[in-house]
Amino acid sequence: MNVKICVGTTCHLMGASTLIESLELLENDLKSKIVIEYATCFSACQGNFTPPVIKINDEFFGNMTPESLRKLIIDKVVEGAEK
Ligand code: FES
Repeated sequence: MNVKICVGTTCHLMGASTLIESLELLENDLKSKIVIEYATCFSACQGNFTPPVIKINDEFFGNMTPESLRKLIIDKVVEGAEK
């Protein structure tokens, strides 16, 4: 699963660094199931998504917090395991 964190200016100002720090704290079994990448701006912040914005595979998610990111990753990993 590809997890891309936007580190563009708006997302950075809105807490992207806390998302990055939270990924460091994920358990190893979760970390082993994701590939973390960074983007400078998806342009999603100018559309329907409130920063900070992330992208999991081809899907955008906005207004992320460390807690919502963790929950989303767990949900997606479980969802992927069920397929
Ligand atoms: S700065 Fe993050 S989507 Fe634009």
